[in-house]
Amino acid sequence: MANEKFDNAKKGKNDEFYTQYADIQKEVNAYLEYDADTFKDKIVLLPCDDPEWSNFTRFFAQNFERLGLKKLISTSYATDSKKFKSYVQLSFLEMESPKYDKTKTNKHGKIFTLTRDTNNSGHIDIDDLEWEYLKGDGDFRSKEVTQLRDEADIIITNPPFSLFREFVDWIMQANKKFLIIGNQNAITYKEIFPLIKNNRMWTGCRFNQRVNGKNMTFVVPDNYPLSGTEVSVDEKGRKLVSVAGTGWFTNLEHGRRHQPLELMTMADNLKYSKHKEIRAEGYPKYVNYDAIDVSFTDAIPDDYKQEMGVPISFLNKYNPEQFEIIALGIVGSIDFSSERKMEILDKNGKPTGKYTINAKGTLYKEWNKNADPKPPAFQDCENGKLYQSIYARIIIRRK
Ligand SMILES: C[S@@+](CC[C@H](N)C(=O)[O-])C[C@H]1O[C@@H](n2cnc3c(N)ncnc32)[C@H](O)[C@@H]1O
Repeated sequence: MANEKFDNAKKGKNDEFYTQYADIQKEVNAYLEYDADTFKDKIVLLPCDDPEWSNFTRFFAQNFERLGLKKLISTSYATDSKKFKSYVQLSFLEMESPKYDKTKTNKHGKIFTLTRDTNNSGHIDIDDLEWEYLKGDGDFRSKEVTQLRDEADIIITNPPFSLFREFVDWIMQANKKFLIIGNQNAITYKEIFPLIKNNRMWTGCRFNQRVNGKNMTFVVPDNYPLSGTEVSVDEKGRKLVSVAGTGWFTNLEHGRRHQPLELMTMADNLKYSKHKEIRAEGYPKYVNYDAIDVSFTDAIPDDYKQEMGVPISFLNKYNPEQFEIIALGIVGSIDFSSERKMEILDKNGKPTGKYTINAKGTLYKEWNKNADPKPPAFQDCENGKLYQSIYARIIIRRK
């Protein structure tokens, strides 16, 4: 159900997932632990925000002095331009301001900036935010928000899920530092994977992890339709949705990225791995690519120097000093060494009369009757051998 919610957001029906304060605070603290000056003297831009309500604006404004920021800029997207219509209550900040303009309030984005102690309180904080209407609707692709991007050092937000690729491209065009929320599915996008492979983008501290039994959880508008197990209403009556596979992407350094994975040798894994699949089947080779399959990140053999296919969740443990990323194990990313015609089998392993070449362009291995929990998925038309295709692998090599 959580993925269904994410798919809706992907289609652009609903991009209104709001990030919780504690999630922002915890993530930012991880960068500060690694380098206390990560944000010092930096201009931080929070685009795709709703500064009056956003926890991003609240967090960075309240921590302006602690982080040593030079300037904070936050921009919002006009209510009328949003795809999902929800009731928006105007903030007092806007309504009570002499700048309030009812002809602009729904059609224009807003810009909030923080640079100085405007109310002479002795501190720069959220009460010193200054605002005005943008010329347009606050679309991040607009000329005025793009100019703010160019002025900024670090771009931080939870961008609309439906525009994730475009948003990353927009950041990359200007070669900026960033910290953004996205979904694990994005790793397999043809626009995103090369950035990960070339160490221009990596997973942040929290990525696809359950905390207190929950995936990363967002606040959604009051009229958001709630159903399924990954939804709830909190003590303040706010609607919450937890989304599997979600986390932070960044190009800011953090400590976990430089911790080596503690691994056992291949021989020890075969004897002592906690995964019975590894003890039973070991490390089968793919039929259509010269690499072994490692079905669990913690079972990567420490002493194996050739290419290996590992689950996508490996990226959360990826240390660029320890491993090199070679490719994504799908068609278009690597050159498969075989082009076999195979019959597709149903979920019970029975023939369907439908055929595929090269297991639909994924990695595949011979089916192991004793170790594979699922029946075979394909049968070779020439030699009758049975195969299992292996989805979503990243090909890596020990450095
Ligand atoms: C996932 S929400 C996150 C909001 C806020 N950053 C947060 O995390 O609480 C994405 C926001 O981007 C806005 N948005 C959608 N399309 C946009 C666009 N083209 N340009 C700027 N913002 C956009 C949505 O209306 C929504 O408010």
